[in-house]
Amino acid sequence: MTEKAQSPTDVFNNEDSNNSNNPTFDNVLQARLSRRSVLLGSASSAFAGVMGTMGLASIASPAMAAKPTTSGFIEALGFKPVSKSLADSIVVPEGYNVNIVYALGDPLNAKTPAFKNDGTDQHFEHRAGDHHDGMGWFGLSASGKPDTHGDKRGVIAMNHEATTDEKLTSFFIHTDGGKASLPRPAVESDKEMMIHGISVVEVQNKSGQWSYLQSSNYNRRITPMTEVSIHGPARGSEHLVTKFDPKATKSRGTINNCGAGKTPWNTYVSGEENWREYFFRDAQDDERRGKKDKSVTALLRYGRKAGEASRHGWESAGNEDRFARWNNSDLGNSTTEDYRNEMNTFGYIVEVDPYNPQLSLRKRTALGRFAHENCCFATPVAGKPIVAYMGDDSRNEYMYKFVSKAVWDPKDAHSNNRLNVGDKYLDQGTLYVAKFKDDGTGEWLELSMNNPIVAANPDFEFTNNAEVMIFTRLAADAVNATKMDRPEWGGVNPRNGEVYFTLTNNSRRTVDGEFGVDAANPRYYTDMKGKTENKGNVNGHILRLAEAKPTDTAFKWDIYLFGAQADADVSKVNLSNLTDDNDISSVDGLNFSSNTGICWIESDDAAYIDQTNCMMLAAIPGKVGDGSNQTLRYSRADGSEKIVNTQVGKAPNTTTLKRFLVGPKGCEITGWCETPDGKTIFVNIQHPGENTKMSDVNNPNNFESQWPANAGYGPGKRPRSATIAITKADGGRIGT
Ligand code: FEO
Ligand code: CA
Ligand code: CA
Ligand code: CA
Repeated sequence: MTEKAQSPTDVFNNEDSNNSNNPTFDNVLQARLSRRSVLLGSASSAFAGVMGTMGLASIASPAMAAKPTTSGFIEALGFKPVSKSLADSIVVPEGYNVNIVYALGDPLNAKTPAFKNDGTDQHFEHRAGDHHDGMGWFGLSASGKPDTHGDKRGVIAMNHEATTDEKLTSFFIHTDGGKASLPRPAVESDKEMMIHGISVVEVQNKSGQWSYLQSSNYNRRITPMTEVSIHGPARGSEHLVTKFDPKATKSRGTINNCGAGKTPWNTYVSGEENWREYFFRDAQDDERRGKKDKSVTALLRYGRKAGEASRHGWESAGNEDRFARWNNSDLGNSTTEDYRNEMNTFGYIVEVDPYNPQLSLRKRTALGRFAHENCCFATPVAGKPIVAYMGDDSRNEYMYKFVSKAVWDPKDAHSNNRLNVGDKYLDQGTLYVAKFKDDGTGEWLELSMNNPIVAANPDFEFTNNAEVMIFTRLAADAVNATKMDRPEWGGVNPRNGEVYFTLTNNSRRTVDGEFGVDAANPRYYTDMKGKTENKGNVNGHILRLAEAKPTDTAFKWDIYLFGAQADADVSKVNLSNLTDDNDISSVDGLNFSSNTGICWIESDDAAYIDQTNCMMLAAIPGKVGDGSNQTLRYSRADGSEKIVNTQVGKAPNTTTLKRFLVGPKGCEITGWCETPDGKTIFVNIQHPGENTKMSDVNNPNNFESQWPANAGYGPGKRPRSATIAITKADGGRIGT
């Protein structure tokens, strides 16, 4: 979801409810600087010394092992970069083809009518949902059996994060834009609910053209109403008891699914991100619960204030249970009579077996509860735990890592009972949160009752590990985790196991104070968008971590890439020396190809869109410590200076970083997956035309975008989120 300053939905986005008084990165940095100033003159060699002591274990790539003849990590990008673009179309390099494969409303079985795209369509529980986001490829054989090596036929599991809305209504799916006030009509609320969740859809390559199969038995929609089971430490917790399940072992659905990942045992994991937006608490709810009640502390820490409106007002649509559940006020005599705990059943990583539509999905509470973006896995090693990395995408939130209790048995990669394998690795383990230290290293801190600091938290009395997993942010506050700048996607570099995290932007970054610049968030500057002045860290950056082994609690870090426009000051803003061939703003999606080793970087931007639509870059990054120490100086009004030392990775050049794609107007580029041969990549185009006014819903000439209809896909002119497939005309691997 794009951060838009004037967006009517901005109130829901990118919340900053972390008011814990643990040290910000700034404080950490000050300590680091004062120590480093002693070392100055040899700061970068001191840093290199730290690096050198850690040395990375070499990690074999599964793709290399599986397909030695067709695979291999590349050292130079082989295409001509595309220019920035404001056109209402997809731009890719010469020699590449684009197929539009699967768009909002496409029917997923034979009996659902074709999408009309005029607001009259119904039955979204049998159609593609909206706002396509993270996704994963799950191969099939030519005869349609699960085959992880399948390249021409497969199922794609995909998140449908949200909808294009104005005020309360998802206006493009209603004939006249819908009713933008309370109470919301039941018929509109039902449609809006059903365009959220996850799709599983079969796709096929016939004669070089990709399309989806409307009648495949693999096709499936998971919606906010699909029954799901709760797994891990929080299963059965009193905090998950609802009218729907007094035993707290099941709940309904998943919502605001953002980033995604693929497990080593071939299931799909999806992150529930801005779920809090969908709930409503009445203005008296704090009083009824008791202002000092733990539940109130938790609700406020998770950004849900009493009296605040919900995103769509579904709770107002009727007395039926499917509407009532979105009101999480304390209304009854007990938790079994209302939905005061309903919000606690969201905020998890959920696991889906895309090969088996009969199985419900499982909420993996051992991975913590927050605004999950994606979940990426370290390359598994036989006899060692499974390790996953995750970000909490809100301002000043944290980065997390999960280490399984069970150790990896490579036979599990071939199991047919995939969700049971998920139980083995994802229901028991240790959750950690990142703390960045002042010497260029960092530490993963355990979040459990084993950690005396968590157990002794005076602000929130944790009584068991279920509570730590449900109220994870409060546990992370207790251990003084480092407040980060909206961690979005993480990805693991298959060449060396290093972990990359996008930090998308921060309009509230300042020079001094609580959000003052620091080593890991070192930039404050002014960016012009037309005549509008934007300040802060407007363009975001990509931070990376190196661990000697994924199970280690120590790491080292640097900043791989700073987003910037090419003409920005190279000494203060454009620190990665970006050019017109690779400049980008608001990095968000990030995925590594296990075939080519390319790092694909996507943008969800509101700052540079006066000059270009959102985009995707291809990168061949180096490694932590390949750059140098840099110093940034900020002049204060009183004449003093704030000096920030940071670690900047080796600047990319146009061989190692190029623009590969630019999307249509108003879209975000997000989600990425590939066929194992590296010859097709799938990319999601989320919310083209999202800046269209609801009052223009029937005036196509005023739509910000008419994509994908203007590219020949489907009826009507209303813009639709869609999945595209990209292939190379010569049949080669993408990006080579
Ligand atoms: Fe759904 Fe953080 O982007
Ligand atoms: Ca985003
Ligand atoms: Ca600008
Ligand atoms: Ca995102």
